[in-house]
Amino acid sequence: MALQRTFSIIKPDATARNLTGAINAKIEAAGLRIIAQKRMQLSKAQAETFYGVHKARPFFNDLVSFMISGPVVVQVLEGENGIAKYRDVMGATNPEQAEAGTIRKEFAESIEANSVHGSDAPETAAEEIAYFFAGIELVG
Ligand code: PPS
Repeated sequence: MALQRTFSIIKPDATARNLTGAINAKIEAAGLRIIAQKRMQLSKAQAETFYGVHKARPFFNDLVSFMISGPVVVQVLEGENGIAKYRDVMGATNPEQAEAGTIRKEFAESIEANSVHGSDAPETAAEEIAYFFAGIELVG
């Protein structure tokens, strides 16, 4: 398979505990290359737009509040089968169900404070990357 790009967020629970480097080490050990990265403080409007697909879900307001509670690190990752590979490295959404060795098993605090986000499909990866990065910022 050709190289595939995915979008990642290191969430506020992880930046608060200074885990960016530890999470990046797991990403790189899995064979994914970090081809763009920046630290940001999301606005409420930006978080609401990014998670717009979940607007009708009961946890939407909590999720938005959590995502603006501190800095995030947004990233573009690239690798063979990159989308599925990163979801494997992240582990299940709920850390209680995540497999040993995954980012969420090792670092996540709860289903909300679950340390990382990763795109779930090629279309969403393309949309999410374009929301946060200009093409010129992606250095593969
Ligand atoms: S997934 O991975 O998209 O299939 O997971 P899903 O269950 O659909 O959850 C989507 C995102 O919502 C977050 N989430 C929650 N936040 C707060 N409270 C509760 N109860 C909750 N349940 C799910 C979950 O972490 C997903 O965030 P992202 O950033 O998309 O991984």
